[in-house]
Amino acid sequence: MNKQQKLDEIRQQILDNQVTPELAETATQLVFGSGNPDADIVFVGEAPGKNEDLKGEPFVGAAGKFLDEMLASVQLDRNDIYITNIVKYRPPNNRDPLPAEKKAFLPYLQAQLEVIQPKVLITLGRHSTNSFLPDLQISKDHGNPKRVKLAFRDDPKSGPQVLEVVILPLFHPAAALYNGGLRQTLLDDFLQIPAIIKKITAK
Ligand code: URA
Repeated sequence: MNKQQKLDEIRQQILDNQVTPELAETATQLVFGSGNPDADIVFVGEAPGKNEDLKGEPFVGAAGKFLDEMLASVQLDRNDIYITNIVKYRPPNNRDPLPAEKKAFLPYLQAQLEVIQPKVLITLGRHSTNSFLPDLQISKDHGNPKRVKLAFRDDPKSGPQVLEVVILPLFHPAAALYNGGLRQTLLDDFLQIPAIIKKITAK
C-alpha cells in the first residue's frame, strides 16, 4: 500500500468510527488533509472554516491565500507540502474547537504523521502548537524551531511509535491576516523555513 492509500484508510476510519458526531452533523463534509504525502513538511492548522467545509480541502479561504503567498516567498507550493488540521470538521460558527474535539481527532492526526513521516512540522496557531507542545506559548515561542521526539500510540506489542521532527510554531495566518504587526512577524518567521530544511537535509 502506498502512502496515499494508507491516508485514504485513515480518512475512512474517521467516518467509520463516527468521530465527533455532533460536528459531523453540522458540517458539510470531512476535511481530511491535502497535498503531497511524500512531503518533508507538514502544516497543521486548527479546524476548517466555511470555505474549507464547502470545498473539502484545508486552507482554501482567505487564510489559505495568505498561506500560499508565504509559501511562494520561500519558493514552495502546495505540491511540496502536506496540510491538515487538528479538528477535521468545521465547528459551528467557526467557534474554537473544544478540548474533547481536539482529543478525539488526535489519534488520527498522529496516524497521518506516522504515514507521512515528515521532518518538519509547522504548527499554525495555539491550538495546533499546544496539541504537540502543551507548554509552549505561541506569543513567546513563535518562530523558534524545536527538535522533538513525539511519542505516539503506545502499542503493548511494538511499544511507542516515535517520530523525530523539528516543530516550527507559527502564528495562525487568519490571526495575522488583518493585524499588521502579526502579519510581518509571521512573514519573517516563515523565512526561516529554507534554513531549517537545509540543515535537516544536509545530515
Ligand atoms: N483555518 C484553519 O485552521 N484551517 C483551515 O483549514 C482553514 C482556516
